[in-house]
Amino acid sequence: MRLVLLGPPGVGKGTQGRRLASDHGWALISTGEMLREAVARGTALGVEAQKRMDAGLLVPDEVMIGLVRDRTCQPDAEMGFVLDGFPRTVGQADALDSMLQGRGQRLDAVVGLAAPEDELVRRLGARRECPACKRAYNLESAPPKDGRHCDDHPQVEVVQRADDAEATIRRRLEVYRRETAPLVDYYRGQGRLREVPGLGPVEEVYRTLSVALEC
Ligand code: AP5
Repeated sequence: MRLVLLGPPGVGKGTQGRRLASDHGWALISTGEMLREAVARGTALGVEAQKRMDAGLLVPDEVMIGLVRDRTCQPDAEMGFVLDGFPRTVGQADALDSMLQGRGQRLDAVVGLAAPEDELVRRLGARRECPACKRAYNLESAPPKDGRHCDDHPQVEVVQRADDAEATIRRRLEVYRRETAPLVDYYRGQGRLREVPGLGPVEEVYRTLSVALEC
């Protein structure tokens, strides 16, 4: 299955996408993660992307489309993929359709996850991640067992993402409303959107998501 998870920062795209991909053998393609890796490696892309990400702004469409075009051709994406964080603009959505059509493929599903904004702000403020395996924790709803270190990497302390500072969270939500929320109507208008509440325990959201995807 080729699937897009759409929704605002903090709604659970990464949390749910990681589990879906692992349960079904699909590739998890997180554009935010790809950019953070480029930042960590100090590549030219990383240097440019970091300025935009730290400001809570989007990276230009042409850069993101090129990254996704290459990544979706990798062997691990042959069985299917979950796109987490792409598309984020109507231009990216159009480009995704064209690139898949050009390969005789299509997008099988678009899932729109939603949750109230005060919940998103709370979740992002309490989010921590393992720098080694990128597993996401939440100091309120899903803390590491000892409160500080990754359960799977007991030597590694979980850290806060640079763009999870409160002012940057607010800016990302503004950018989401302006640039990405129109995609909800875009896919709904085409009859391609499956809407799933992102509120409630992670397990419950996952069950609802699986029912919506019939998988
Ligand atoms: P990206 O990494 O994609 O960030 P985002 O969209 O802001 O999404 P998040 O990763 O913050 O949230 P999420 O929905 O994955 O939530 P999560 O599962 O972690 O992008 C970062 C930046 O990169 C962008 O700002 C932009 O600059 C750039 N970028 C990326 N893609 C781009 C593109 N296509 N075009 C242009 N620029 C791009 O969950 C959040 C927290 O909540 C966690 O702590 C989790 O444990 C907890 N949680 C999850 N579910 C629940 C639940 N049901 N109940 C309670 N807590 C929960």
